[in-house]
Amino acid sequence: MASFLNSSIGKKFLMSLSGLFLISFLLVHLFVNSMILFDKSGVLFNNAAHFMGTNPIIRIVEPILAIGFILHIIYAGILTLTNQWARPVGYNKQKSGNSSSWASRNMFILGSLIFIFLVIHVANFFWKVKFSGSELLDKGAVNGVENTYLLVTTFFINWWWIDIVYVIGALVLGLHLTHAFWAAFQTLGLSDNRWRKRLEILGWAYTILVAGGFAIIPLWVKISSML
Ligand code: HEM
Repeated sequence: MASFLNSSIGKKFLMSLSGLFLISFLLVHLFVNSMILFDKSGVLFNNAAHFMGTNPIIRIVEPILAIGFILHIIYAGILTLTNQWARPVGYNKQKSGNSSSWASRNMFILGSLIFIFLVIHVANFFWKVKFSGSELLDKGAVNGVENTYLLVTTFFINWWWIDIVYVIGALVLGLHLTHAFWAAFQTLGLSDNRWRKRLEILGWAYTILVAGGFAIIPLWVKISSML
């Protein structure tokens, strides 16, 4: 088992497994965040965020999510470096460009940009909700349900550049997913010639939903505040 996990295919296997876990997390996260779009009073989103923050199952899943992220990042780094060292000097990247997509050849760069986005994102919201607190969270809190809606919408309304960071973050995430989605199934042995095309289509549908959904939220909040 240890030798499998240390092998190149073992590392890819773990990356794909943690990747599929992150893919599921994003769907749930988008579903909860989409409540921002449907209720301007914020009650719907605040209750959903509070449920996610206090539900015992989610509280168990959260550290697993963090471990999944860390594993995914560490193995991506190791695999990228190992592949680069294994290549002959002067390797011409363009040659592989004919058969592979731009995203597939730049997964590490895309992943690194997502990581930078995540550091900003966690500092904006997660850190405040879980650890440091904020007067915005306390303003209008009802029965211990903190006003996460006010925290999120204040960010998106007051700082236009935050909206740009979130839209770019969503687009970069989308590019990463166009390759990651079907590749994860392939590495786990859950795809064959027949399924590859279907998974690619499903991957595109998932990507458009997730990247589009995450990009629309800050834009919607900003634009509707100006109307
Ligand atoms: C419009 C876009 C987004 C909004 C409004 C949003 C909102 C939030 C909020 C309010 C939290 C804190 C939740 C809590 O602890 O109660 C959070 C946490 C988090 N977000 Fe986002 N998010 C967005 C996009 C994203 C994207 C694109 C990713 C991944 C690339 C992401 C990954 C995370 C992670 C990993 C956490 C910490 C784990 C958790 O609390 O569930 N978010 N987000």
